[in-house]
Parts: sequence; C-alpha cells; structure tokens
Amino acid sequence: MSWVDVGRIDELKFTPGSPFRIGDHWIAIFRLDDAWVAIDNNCPHASAPLCDGTVLDGKVVCYLHCWEFDLRTGACDVGPQWNVQTYPVREVDGRLQVHWPGPNPVDPNPVDPNADDRQPDGDQ
Ligand code: FES
Repeated sequence: MSWVDVGRIDELKFTPGSPFRIGDHWIAIFRLDDAWVAIDNNCPHASAPLCDGTVLDGKVVCYLHCWEFDLRTGACDVGPQWNVQTYPVREVDGRLQVHWPGPNPVDPNPVDPNADDRQPDGDQ
C-alpha cells in the first residue's frame, strides 16, 4: 500500500471527475464541497468512464444508463453487487495523492490533462 501522486490540482482536468491510472487500473477523483474522493472509474454495468458522469448530491450518475454511485462509499443504487471501490485522497502542497491498496506501483501513470490518452468510452 502506498500514496500515489496524481498531479497538481491546478493541472488536472475535471469532467467532473479526473481520471488517472495506476498500471492498468483506472481511478477517478472528484471534488465534493468539503473533500476529495476517488472511486473506480469503470462503471460496473458496461464500463463507461464514471469521470464523465454527472455529480448530484454526492453521487455520480453514469452517463450511459444512469446508475448512481455514492462518491463517499461507492454504493450503487441498483444493488450492492455493483458497488465500486473507493480510495482515500489527500492534498499535499497543491498536489493530490490517492491511497492505493495494492502493491507499490512500479510506474504510477497519471494522465496528462493536455494529452489525448484518456480512458476510452465504454461499450454502448
Ligand atoms: S450505467 Fe454505467 S455503463 Fe450502464
């Protein structure tokens, strides 16, 4: 387990979530009124990127079929078998770090907000 640096807050792109990957795992960070939160970016229904959903009342609504996920708990409104993983986030000197529960990543690979290498859309 380790804190993985995601990047400078003012350089990350939020739509409304900001996607990044650790190895082959995609995570999305969101800003709520009083906290940063992070969840798995792949919607468990059909893999749409949750970073591009709509945030309402502390939940992200997937843009493909409107399933909702609580950004603090990962709970899915359709049923607990569809919950997504959440990750602690901390802000350090204007940068965001996510607590990664797996082995230390050899090559954490934050997304360059200016590059066109964001996670592709899920199946439709
Ligand atoms: S609800 Fe997210 S892909 Fe269907």
